[in-house]
Amino acid sequence: MKVTFLPLESTTPASEGDSLLFLAQKIGATWVECCGMNPLCGKCKVSVVEGEESLTTMRNKEFDYAKENGFLPYQRLGCLACIQKDDESEVWVELENYVLPQEGVEKWHKENLES
Ligand code: FES
Repeated sequence: MKVTFLPLESTTPASEGDSLLFLAQKIGATWVECCGMNPLCGKCKVSVVEGEESLTTMRNKEFDYAKENGFLPYQRLGCLACIQKDDESEVWVELENYVLPQEGVEKWHKENLES
């Protein structure tokens, strides 16, 4: 099982029970730290682009948060959405709060500020 995080296109192997937030942290793709979930902060929000069936389904706490905050059907909380089973499938996830690699920051500056 592997998970790819967009927009960075960083891929990591994943195991059953790993949360999407844990995996994104493991490869340095996000700056979000788990808030302890009481209350939920929502900073770990992600959009599942592909492979939703490989993730655990929403439990009450996440479902209530998603409903109150107008989540679209493909949006999840990364700290609560976990890998359901370790198989050959692939999950693609777009992070809302991600870390740009240094070369990405430099490229963005060149394209947007220096032209
Ligand atoms: S990190 Fe706060 S809700 Fe997920």
